[in-house]
Amino acid sequence: MSSTWGTNIKLSIFGGSHTEAIGVVLDNLPANEKIDLDAVRMQMARRAPGKDKTATTRAEADEPQILSGLLNGITTGAPLAAIIQNTNTRPKDYSLLKTHPRPGHADYTASIRYDGANDIRGGGHFSGRLTACLVFAGAVCRQILERRGVTVGAHALQIGAAKDSAFDPVHVSADVLNALNTRFFAVNEAVAEQAMRDEIENARLDADSIGGVIECAAVGMPAGIGSPMFGGVENILASILYGIPAVKGVEFGAGFGVSALRGSENNDAFYYGEDGHVYTETNHAGGILGGITTGMPIVFRVAVKPTPSIGKIQNTVDLLEKKNDTLTVVGRHDPCIVPRAIPVVEAAAAIALLDMML
Ligand SMILES: Cc1cc2nc3c(=O)[nH]c(=O)nc-3n(C[C@H](O)[C@H](O)[C@H](O)COP(=O)(O)O)c2cc1C
Repeated sequence: MSSTWGTNIKLSIFGGSHTEAIGVVLDNLPANEKIDLDAVRMQMARRAPGKDKTATTRAEADEPQILSGLLNGITTGAPLAAIIQNTNTRPKDYSLLKTHPRPGHADYTASIRYDGANDIRGGGHFSGRLTACLVFAGAVCRQILERRGVTVGAHALQIGAAKDSAFDPVHVSADVLNALNTRFFAVNEAVAEQAMRDEIENARLDADSIGGVIECAAVGMPAGIGSPMFGGVENILASILYGIPAVKGVEFGAGFGVSALRGSENNDAFYYGEDGHVYTETNHAGGILGGITTGMPIVFRVAVKPTPSIGKIQNTVDLLEKKNDTLTVVGRHDPCIVPRAIPVVEAAAAIALLDMML
């Protein structure tokens, strides 16, 4: 197993849902960058569980313990390493999951891939808990990005049938993103939040779960960053976004919608602004052409599947007896992953954009 990502920045994440701690190492960060640890903690609190009925009741302090790479709040240039203790694990017998894989989880695939040796407790290294490390790393990277004029923010665009208004892909601004990127359950329109909470509550009362879409934007990225064919901004963002558990789709700009458009509708016409910079009138490209930033906002959406752990009886197999069987998943779970995954998507985007800028 290797959970390492990045070209210029190297991100490594280790640990599991029920190990003593989880941790993260960020190599190659620029030196002499001031890091506000309160701002890091605030981002981690947005993702941390136990806040309300939309999230698991597993309460974790999520306090990062920095081991190296930071001296008096300034990056030293050495690898930045941090661990986060797992304080709220519930020791119990997980052996049933070895023989009865949970539908929608990696229990079955991981047991084949790792010959049954994988830590299955709470999903082990596949757990959403590991995203606390991504948020830590992203909170550091976003401070460095902000100093270079780049702002990232995201919101819940859809949960079940409830929808928020989408970003204006041309005019979305740092102010709009900054109004979202410190909030739990960030939405553009307050009415959408209640409708989304109702969708989540209805699923929860039905011992079920529900999926959704997170929309993210980054502004301030200069034109000319990224490379064809495999080093493009889409490639790099997608590769880290698909590292977030439960992410099943990523689309940029008009995304799958381009398939219904004519070229005359989809092409973003260029013009010179009064400041002498080149802009586009529309932004179906989501700020990316040929894998390279245009200088317009980068806009993408992420599809998040419904939480696989649900309270209903499900069909599975008994791998020991080699027969069909049923399983009832017990434990504490998010009825919807979207609210807690919003800061995770922002964090992943910040890490990827900084990686490309360096
Ligand atoms: C922030 C976050 C929290 C999550 N919480 C849960 C949870 O409480 N219960 C659960 O079954 N899955 C949860 N997941 C998703 C699973 O970890 C994931 O679906 C599973 O490991 C299988 O991986 P895959 O969906 O990427 O294929 C969470 C994911 C994220 C990003």
